[in-house]
Amino acid sequence: MKALVVFYSKTGLTKEVAVHISEELNCDIEEIFDVKSRKGILGYIRSVIESAFKKMPEIKKTEINPEEYDVVIMGTPVWAENMASPIRTYLFNNNEKMDKVAFFCTMLGSGNKRAFLEMERVSESEPLACLALTSKEIKQEKHIKKVKEFINKIKKNYKKS
Ligand SMILES: Cc1cc2nc3c(=O)[nH]c(=O)nc-3n(C[C@H](O)[C@H](O)[C@H](O)COP(=O)(O)O)c2cc1C
Repeated sequence: MKALVVFYSKTGLTKEVAVHISEELNCDIEEIFDVKSRKGILGYIRSVIESAFKKMPEIKKTEINPEEYDVVIMGTPVWAENMASPIRTYLFNNNEKMDKVAFFCTMLGSGNKRAFLEMERVSESEPLACLALTSKEIKQEKHIKKVKEFINKIKKNYKKS
């Protein structure tokens, strides 16, 4: 199974998990970058509005072609009980290039279910597995076991598919 991890991260937590997953799988990884800065309170407000109203902000051109992978593992922070808006842009632009998908998110505590449902809808693909982690779990390193289980589930469901 050739896997690719694609993620967006504003403050580094989703990146930490994405790097961890790519190291466990020994696979390629691609970070999504904003074109317009999200710094400060205005950046925060814009992020909430974009996510709540399902906007698709411009993102920097990505390097890796997801078509070359069996599974694309998408990682997002939860924003306004939804996926982060730059992830929506990526999924919309690349959904025809992705075969199988799996999703993970980081959050303070709520919104993962809606985020995953929306990611499934925009990618037009049912995920092999989903993993939601709270910032508290990550700080306490409780995510390590959950990441292992997530990877095992992806591999198992990939074989079945
Ligand atoms: C604009 C914005 C909206 C957010 N909305 C939510 C939310 O609805 N639910 C939640 O649990 N956390 C929410 N958070 C917290 C982030 O999901 C959480 O801190 C996440 O782990 C950050 O990931 P990152 O460090 O990769 O950017 C929000 C954070 C931001 C910046």
